[in-house]
Amino acid sequence: MSAAYRQLLDATIAHLEHLDAQGVRSVPVLPATLAALTKRSAPAASVPARAIAPVSSPASPRPVAPAPTPGAERRLVSPRSAEPESFAAAFEGDAADFAARPAVVPIPTVNPLADKPLPPRLDPASKVLAFAALQQRVLACQQCSHLVAARHSVVFGVGDPDARILFIGEAPGADEDLAGEPFVGRAGELLTKIIGAMGLGRESVYIANILKCRPDMPGGAPGNRKPRPDEMATCNPWLHEQIDLIQPEVLVALGSTAVEGLLGGTVGITRLRGKWQSYRGIPLMPTYHPAYLLRNQVISEKRKVWEDMLEVMEKIGLPISARQRGYFLNP
Ligand code: URA
Repeated sequence: MSAAYRQLLDATIAHLEHLDAQGVRSVPVLPATLAALTKRSAPAASVPARAIAPVSSPASPRPVAPAPTPGAERRLVSPRSAEPESFAAAFEGDAADFAARPAVVPIPTVNPLADKPLPPRLDPASKVLAFAALQQRVLACQQCSHLVAARHSVVFGVGDPDARILFIGEAPGADEDLAGEPFVGRAGELLTKIIGAMGLGRESVYIANILKCRPDMPGGAPGNRKPRPDEMATCNPWLHEQIDLIQPEVLVALGSTAVEGLLGGTVGITRLRGKWQSYRGIPLMPTYHPAYLLRNQVISEKRKVWEDMLEVMEKIGLPISARQRGYFLNP
């Protein structure tokens, strides 16, 4: 498969995933296009099937996590039960049906901020002041006049500014716009469950979005739209400054728009998820957006996200119980 064809395929997959994320269930395709696609895909037999469609394969055993380093649990282990709850518990015992992980997928970096090194960490008192000052500046942002006109609030972010994990979503939806807090709607509830399944509390991580304002809808129509590249580019410096201050050990990009906002590129989330990337020297784990899991209530998809979270936990030395390791696998 040529690089150009691969790029086109990735862009198509990314576009379809985005439509899927918006609830679109079918797309019109001209018969001629379909015929051309069928013809063009004939040599694809030599392409790893995983790149085109998930295939079923038994889960390979995961390596056992190294013993957590002393102090590794700082702030993160929730005082409540370290055993996860409903995200996994509701599905425990179901058979896993998920694809083997694809090989490392390089992504072309087009975000000019993505390679900027982190500044030195601030001392705690200066950090508190700088974080509050940044929040004030973000809340007063007027750069995108169309978003300013439509918004109820600027959704800065929520959680612990000293968090070790920073979850990054796409943009506020209607619920978040009203609440002024990211991930408070249905997708947010699921994200909170996932964080809980990791043995953490929502307050011990940090959650932010690529865009701080809700993307406006034509005529105030319901629903959501994907942030445009110009909007992402305008807003990106705010997240950049948040990362300057938080300096998390790991970033989790939720969905293709988050990956695109951070790294740029056209590689679809289906190929990227589960494969460590790097943003400003910080390990970045791309995974599916919780809204995708809400629409695809399939154990195999939940397991994929859970595998990605296990990777994140291993990366920073969080303790992982046998029960956690086995979520969505056979009993
Ligand atoms: N989806 C997102 O990507 N971010 C939110 O804050 C809510 C839903």
